[in-house]
Amino acid sequence: MTIDNKVILIYLYSMTEIIKDIKTAVREIKQGNVIALPTETVYGLGANALNPEAVIKIFAIKERPVFNPLIVHIDSAEKIKNIAKSVPEDVYKIAEKFSPGPVTFVLKKKKIIPDIVTAGLDSVAVRIPSHKLFQEVIKLCGLPVAAPSANMFGHISPTTAKDVYKELNGKINYILDGGKCSVGIESTIISFSEDGITILRPGYITKNDIEGVTGKKVFIHKTKKILSPGMMKSHYAPATPLFLTDDTDKFKDLKNPDIGILDITDYTDMKKLAKELFSKIRELDNKGYKIIITSKVENSGIGIAVNDRLIRASSGTVFFDKGKIRFIKKDNQDA
Ligand code: TXA
Ligand code: MG
Repeated sequence: MTIDNKVILIYLYSMTEIIKDIKTAVREIKQGNVIALPTETVYGLGANALNPEAVIKIFAIKERPVFNPLIVHIDSAEKIKNIAKSVPEDVYKIAEKFSPGPVTFVLKKKKIIPDIVTAGLDSVAVRIPSHKLFQEVIKLCGLPVAAPSANMFGHISPTTAKDVYKELNGKINYILDGGKCSVGIESTIISFSEDGITILRPGYITKNDIEGVTGKKVFIHKTKKILSPGMMKSHYAPATPLFLTDDTDKFKDLKNPDIGILDITDYTDMKKLAKELFSKIRELDNKGYKIIITSKVENSGIGIAVNDRLIRASSGTVFFDKGKIRFIKKDNQDA
């Protein structure tokens, strides 16, 4: 049944096991079950993309609205044409350089992909993950795997098997443990049209990377219109309200036990920061602080993706005004 676009499934509580055995993962997918799998970006919650009954379980487990489409994962660029049509040449140029890897292509969908996967859209998001275990699972199943990030809807994505366990214990049978994700933030999502190439969600593969291989100008989607439901402003949020500031040092000086500080001002390597960002936010989220305070980074390269996730995770901004702390809550009206 569906209520307010959410699929509600009543299922028996099952103990969730963290496993390393790939055969069990393959069996689960083939049997139409849902399993958490490691990718190089974040952990995914995977099911056979060609089986609507299996895919609907993903929405139920995550409590994710059915209007939010899933990414379909395949093991090689040659297979893109099996699920998408009219594939632009630029896709292959980008794939040759960056796939397998953290980049997702939004393409015209072929009928083989059920509507539940794409939320009824005529496009399908396709990604070729590079994580060895995910690659092997796809190969051994011989199936495309639909997988969103393995967190409850609206939470930040998990980057370790333990983080998935905290999100989904009791809701799935197995989590395939592939260690800590090496990229740490979700893939760059790209769409193609006659007007050009657009980044719908910034990520590890940057605008420069894509311009470099295609020789074309790439746009970063900025307007308030939501093209990709993951672009909703109140997304990827921790339970403890997180506020952004330019005054990190002043907040540190306060030594207030209710305030958790995520000091990222020292990071110069944005790849390293991306890898650690979500686990650091999760760590502070579990410490019982009333608020978490952090700052944005320089808005270029992978820093654009880091800032994007920080803004989405945040409840607003905070600053000192004549010695007083002032909060400005984020406007989520268009979320
Ligand atoms: O790195 C990643 O992309 C991870 C790993 C597991 O692959 N997956 C991930 O999935 O982040 P998810 O579902 O959490 O985010 C996928 C985003 C959503 O915002 C969804 O709205 C968007 O992709 N999306 C999926 N299909 C789309 C489509 N046809 N058009 C536009 N956006 C789409
Ligand atoms: Mg997600």
